[in-house]
Amino acid sequence: MSKDHKATTSRRGFLKSAVAAGGATLAAGAARGAEGDPAILELQEWNQVLGDGVDARPYGTPSQYEAHVKRRSVEWLTADPISSVNFTPLHELDGIITPNGVCFERHHGGIAEIDPAQHRLMINGLVEQELVFTMQDLMRYPRDNRVYFLECAANSGMEWRGAQLNGCQFTHGMIHNVMYTGIPLRYILETAGLKTNAKWILPEGADASGMTRSIPIEKALDDCMVAFKMNGEALRPEQGYPLRLVVPGWEGNMWIKWLRRIEVGDEPWHHREETSKYTDLLENGQARRFTWEMDAKSVITNPSPQAPILHGPGRTTITGVAWSGRGSIPRVDVTIDGGKNWHAARMSGPSFDKSMHRFYYEFDWDGSPLLLQSRAHDSTGYVQPTKNQLREWRGLNSIYHNNGIQTWYVNEQGIAENVEVS
Ligand code: MTE
Ligand code: CO
Repeated sequence: MSKDHKATTSRRGFLKSAVAAGGATLAAGAARGAEGDPAILELQEWNQVLGDGVDARPYGTPSQYEAHVKRRSVEWLTADPISSVNFTPLHELDGIITPNGVCFERHHGGIAEIDPAQHRLMINGLVEQELVFTMQDLMRYPRDNRVYFLECAANSGMEWRGAQLNGCQFTHGMIHNVMYTGIPLRYILETAGLKTNAKWILPEGADASGMTRSIPIEKALDDCMVAFKMNGEALRPEQGYPLRLVVPGWEGNMWIKWLRRIEVGDEPWHHREETSKYTDLLENGQARRFTWEMDAKSVITNPSPQAPILHGPGRTTITGVAWSGRGSIPRVDVTIDGGKNWHAARMSGPSFDKSMHRFYYEFDWDGSPLLLQSRAHDSTGYVQPTKNQLREWRGLNSIYHNNGIQTWYVNEQGIAENVEVS
């Protein structure tokens, strides 16, 4: 261990030498001596009594001290919880995988509770042979494991007219990133045999909303999956148990949950979710339609309004997530002064196409106010735009596809707030 650990070293002096010494020393330097700290000098209660045995928790849940890590909804967005949304607590998570219990939920007709033994998947329309699969029939197919983000097209939709919701859970939490186990949809469509005029599919949900969306056949045959597991275990009822469609990189609305039928056709169906909803009304009165791909986007998750800096000035870690519906994220830039200077963030963790990426930026905070932003670059060369650029392109009528750069103002106390810089 280096001399930096001596309690006599002044904090500022320590930080200077620690910067020169590199990362490991920096982390250790955040600590202090044992003197006067009963939490380390005295045995705690849990150190002196026997704990629960192995039968106490047959299906594990988080520590009681993690009860604040939960999905939350926004009251004024929730006219009726049956057709509403809650948000992933992004500021409480790290790495790239969203734990199943906190994946945001968006239902249009509540959660269908389906008995898998009674569940069927039907393929009909422009196929050589209409087919009905039981869950067991599906288990005969070769399956794949792939990590993808699902982002609702309405994520950040409340921020079009200005900074509004105070927390990345609410501004950016309509996203989750999960490892799916499922069957490439291509295998199932090939079994049914596509007719030559098969150009579109219409997946349909078995929930009360009977959700449907038109998807072009090229996408269906490319990377869509019929998934039955998430992060190794069965899909949660909230996420479409026992079967959901995975439509990598495309807006969440197309990822039909409780999947019961796929109709094959020669043109799109122009149903509600692709006409009155999930279209973007532009300034000139025209509406953008079929804007399926999710553009590259990023957000700093810590610090953020729900996650202030609690440790005071000095060595500080900024972290966040970035993703793109068109590929991977080779680079994220971070600024602490509202965009005057940009620094390349450190990417850490696996980099998969159409999946979340984790970034970090470590710096010495002098205790003065910060204007934090992150800017994602995706593997196609696309760079995340500012909110004002987006407004110039698309006006103010939009709800969907807001991938503008987010700003957090952090004051001297480390408290963060949702703001915009012009
Ligand atoms: N599928 C069905 N059957 N019913 C629904 O209400 N909601 C859609 C999509 N698939 C929905 C559905 C929307 S708008 C989104 S954003 C995603 O599911 C949300 O998926 P999640 O609940 O796993 O987060
Ligand atoms: Co949605």
